[in-house]
Amino acid sequence: MLLQSSHSSPSALMDLPVTSARLLDGKALAEQILTTLQREVAEKMATGLPAPGLATILVGHDPASHIYVRNKRRACEKVGMTNIHHELDKAYGQTALLRLIAQLNADPSVHGILVQLPLPKGCDYDENEILAAIDPNKDADGFHPFNQGALMQGRKAPVPCTPKGIMRLLDECGLQLKGLHAVVVGRSNIVGKPVALLLLERHLTVTICHSRTRDLAAEVGRADIVVAAVGVPELVRGAWIKKGAVVLDVGINRNTEGKLVGDVEFHAAAARASWITPVPGGVGPMTIAMLLQNTFEAYNR
Ligand code: GUN
Repeated sequence: MLLQSSHSSPSALMDLPVTSARLLDGKALAEQILTTLQREVAEKMATGLPAPGLATILVGHDPASHIYVRNKRRACEKVGMTNIHHELDKAYGQTALLRLIAQLNADPSVHGILVQLPLPKGCDYDENEILAAIDPNKDADGFHPFNQGALMQGRKAPVPCTPKGIMRLLDECGLQLKGLHAVVVGRSNIVGKPVALLLLERHLTVTICHSRTRDLAAEVGRADIVVAAVGVPELVRGAWIKKGAVVLDVGINRNTEGKLVGDVEFHAAAARASWITPVPGGVGPMTIAMLLQNTFEAYNR
């Protein structure tokens, strides 16, 4: 079982006398998923098929992006996928980047393409044009407008990795999700909006909050499921969390003491929640596992 328990509270959701949440261990779940993928890749290759290939493109010198991409490349290696990596100076430029994507689209050894975001500021990059240039069938991130449109219409298509990982973690709780109230804090194209659509698809009632939301505490306080994806250290206070709620924290921030913290005040939230993801080791590793799953699905298509 992936869920570490500090006590044995029942798994029903609301209004329970929960004193300490169970930890949703994304690291352990991601490792299980990668082990399964490793076996599936080996089975394909044993039949004489080539390895699945993921192309990663990293532009500029953002230290966090370098760490994220390094971890994605390591995971490729672990499961036996080929990684075609392009590390580019921030002056590489929009036209050259579009040309590189066209080459990767045409390369049969490449099944998935990822352009790490954000692209460097102050250059001529148009992120939307770059994402739209990726072959939608090779869109390992699910960011192409065709695939985002499919998600909105509830059609099958590659799904963005962090939202997909969040839903997979939520399924680990074994809850009946239908009819519950989810509050998503953050409205990015990468996490907030797509996860809200996935939650809707599973018949939750969804509220999307953001920096202009009038009373964030009150909104969060009504949530059975909280997804925090704003990138502000510990913005979501533990005292706001409804007793027994499930808390999924997407944030990876440094606080003023330089400590790695999420978007949720972890210890105070854990005292009220029924389940909570840690930072690090919660949602982050799941993003990578879902990226490789998307690549493997593209390869199988
Ligand atoms: N930047 C932050 N998260 C992501 C992600 O999931 N994919 C890409 N390509 N860039 C990101």
